[in-house]
Amino acid sequence: MKIIWVAGARPNFMKIAPIWKAMAAWNAGQVSAKTRFCPLLVHTGQHYDANMSDVFFRDLALPEPDYALGVGSGTHAEQTGRVMMAFEQILAREKPDAVGVVGDVNSTCACALATAKCYVLTGNRTPLLIHVEAGLRSGDRLMPEEINRLVTDALANVLFTTEESGTQNLLKEGIPPERIHFVGNVMVDSLLQALERDQATSRRFEPLAPSTGYGLVTLHRPSNVDDPALLVDIIAALQGIGQNIPLYMPIHPRTRAQWSDANMINLDSVATDRLPESPGLYGLPPLGYHDFLGLMRQAAFIITDSGGVQEESTVLGVPCITLRENTERPITVTVGTNVLLGRNPRALQEQVDRILRGEWKSGASPPGWDGHAAERIVSVLAKLGEGNQ
Ligand code: UD1
Ligand code: UDP
Repeated sequence: MKIIWVAGARPNFMKIAPIWKAMAAWNAGQVSAKTRFCPLLVHTGQHYDANMSDVFFRDLALPEPDYALGVGSGTHAEQTGRVMMAFEQILAREKPDAVGVVGDVNSTCACALATAKCYVLTGNRTPLLIHVEAGLRSGDRLMPEEINRLVTDALANVLFTTEESGTQNLLKEGIPPERIHFVGNVMVDSLLQALERDQATSRRFEPLAPSTGYGLVTLHRPSNVDDPALLVDIIAALQGIGQNIPLYMPIHPRTRAQWSDANMINLDSVATDRLPESPGLYGLPPLGYHDFLGLMRQAAFIITDSGGVQEESTVLGVPCITLRENTERPITVTVGTNVLLGRNPRALQEQVDRILRGEWKSGASPPGWDGHAAERIVSVLAKLGEGNQ
């Protein structure tokens, strides 16, 4: 089966990497070329800074992409349109049997649309469209990702879900049950692999870890950071918390564009004596995967609006406060360590105090978040491949 995997933005790389490895492991056990996968990797270039893209190729041992589309930033229509135009050419040239997209970013939706409409270009045959992390719904259509999820799932032929709510959402939307496969969470595969190999280490950041502990913050949702008044309130609340316990915040480029006067720590200075001497809110550049996981697993708590970080903190058992009204990942709240605070920064201090008093739930890892999701995906795809021979 010739299958194109699409990555475009930061949270895509840790989802593709375990699938890539599982495909290689499957191929190694096949005697016939017919039953092997022939994977190709396309990087759309939605994220392009070295610390939003290249670092993940290194940390996750991903191969160089077969195609780098270099689409860059733009409005939603510009970015989606540019990915569609560039990806259509790849489809016409490669005529794949299948296209795999992950998550909910613009690149995911754009490649799903191009794939679903490429019948003539690919020799009067539409490739199978595979969506990994299907069915997640926040119920909030102001969130660009929710539109991407709805469109991608409506078009996909094979839908892999990470939690029961995903499966139920798809069934409610009329997706035939035989298309839906609950496989667990590939992002957790990457996380557990990094822990097993002792790669997720905070050694580099030990000088930043005082005996009081520290909190970790990531914010990049437009609903938080593109609203200047709200961002000012959030930063003020974080600075208040930082008076008692240091907060480290790797700053996403979208957030950096709105908050350029952050009190930044230069990463090169982490191992030297030029470190902050007092508690406070300190910015860091976006971190590589291993550095970020290292900092996250040792944190006393996490404040975030990231989808992936809600999941990872649940698996790591680290208390997580999510500055959003909703989550498309409800299992992180019902089973994990996550609490939804709404867009209500003034309530942050009270929640952090609860955590520091040890009054937080301990949580557990959700079903199927066990490090083997990619293997389950590959075995479903292998069966589909057999059926097509
Ligand atoms: C995108 C995804 C979001 C995901 C996030 C992960 C969509 C609609 N949004 O949001 O779901 O949670 O990625 O991080 O697909 N920029 C840079 N360098 C980069 C990338 C972006 O400077 O390498 C800046 C640009 O000014 C750009 C802005 O960040 O305009 C936003 O980037 P974009 O990819 O449009 O959306 P994200 O906010 O990153
Ligand atoms: N992450 C990282 N460095 C950072 C911040 C996050 O490696 O500085 C990782 C994080 O561990 C998770 C993924 O990026 O695996 C989440 O991506 P992001 O928050 O950008 O997107 P979302 O999940 O919200 O779509």
